[in-house]
Amino acid sequence: MTPPAVPLTQRAIVQSRYGPVRDVLALSETVPVRPPGPHEVQVEVRAAGVNPIDWQMIEGNRRLIARRRFPFTPLFDLAGVVTAVGDGVTSFRVGDRVHGDNEVDAGGTAEYVNVRSGLLAAVPAGLDFAAAAALPLAAQTALTCLDSGQVADGTHVAVIGASGGVGHLAVQTARAAGAHVVGVAGARNLDFVRSLGADEAVDRHTDDLPSRFGADSFDVVIDCVGGREQWLRAQRVLRPGGRFVTIARDEDGVVTLASAARLLSRITARKIRGAGPRGTKYVPVFLKASGSLQRRVNDLVGDGRVRAHVSRSFPLTPEGVHAALEESRAGRVTGKLVLQR
Ligand SMILES: NC(=O)c1ccc[n+]([C@@H]2O[C@H](COP(=O)([O-])OP(=O)(O)OC[C@H]3O[C@@H](n4cnc5c(N)ncnc54)[C@H](OP(=O)(O)O)[C@@H]3O)[C@@H](O)[C@H]2O)c1
Repeated sequence: MTPPAVPLTQRAIVQSRYGPVRDVLALSETVPVRPPGPHEVQVEVRAAGVNPIDWQMIEGNRRLIARRRFPFTPLFDLAGVVTAVGDGVTSFRVGDRVHGDNEVDAGGTAEYVNVRSGLLAAVPAGLDFAAAAALPLAAQTALTCLDSGQVADGTHVAVIGASGGVGHLAVQTARAAGAHVVGVAGARNLDFVRSLGADEAVDRHTDDLPSRFGADSFDVVIDCVGGREQWLRAQRVLRPGGRFVTIARDEDGVVTLASAARLLSRITARKIRGAGPRGTKYVPVFLKASGSLQRRVNDLVGDGRVRAHVSRSFPLTPEGVHAALEESRAGRVTGKLVLQR
């Protein structure tokens, strides 16, 4: 195939410093397009997915642990078409449709971005770019939660935050594994959670797991919400040796030396407490994105057992990026938000 003509510069929505998205993101018309380096794939971005980590990083909440160099093109999840490959890339060719979580470097708001080939997977046949961009970070996290919880056929699983980006994919992947799944969500999302295959859906405002199900009713609780309360409630429903798998922290907001120290001491204390009489295991999950994890997700997508529910799509423009990130920041998203050209 003749390689497509790729320009020397591009338009991209660029972050200039840390701060609120409307203050620090703007369109730049002159961002250089770099040729891919060794083991990199150049992708023409067609759609980008939105995750809470995007606005958290833009605001600088995590600058203590992950510093950015500016100007920076944000949005980790992306899907598009391969326009060039670097030395050593054997798994992708020009013209392939690919997607992935471009952890660290991001670039979903650019027209062209170089991605390490090990982070990419082929987009399953029949999936459009918007649906493909909605999957990587959330679906890979959901699958990592299942692995960490050792979820298998017959496992009893509760998913807290079952209507959100990670939660709605955790419900589907757990069902695909043959688990019995209870989803906890707000009233307006209970039908949605049942439509994902959950065996039961519990209203988070009027009900809770301990009063509805009682002791020893779950092998695994997957927490996609965070806060100390989730951990305390989970201990009242997990069977001895059960696993509390969490992707969220107790405290939101800026990571400081003090909050990082509190987090570490809490994780240690909970792991020790977990070794106590009931042997409840506290299992924090931090995604390590990869193309191979995405391919495992895609096997389930290809079978029709898992799909991202895109509740809203925005144009990949400065206004669209601002609006999508603000909607994510409000914390009420059902499924996923995407941006597309
Ligand atoms: N550790 C990791 O590797 C990792 C990876 C991905 C995400 N995360 C973190 O995990 C969290 C969830 O991510 P996400 O993408 O799933 O977020 P999200 O899509 O923004 O989640 C929003 C959903 O959460 C629901 N929700 C909020 N509070 C709830 C509660 N108390 N009980 C039940 N449902 C509740 C909301 O429902 P209502 O509208 O009804 O309130 C909404 O549907 C974020 O903090 C994110 O930063 C961590």
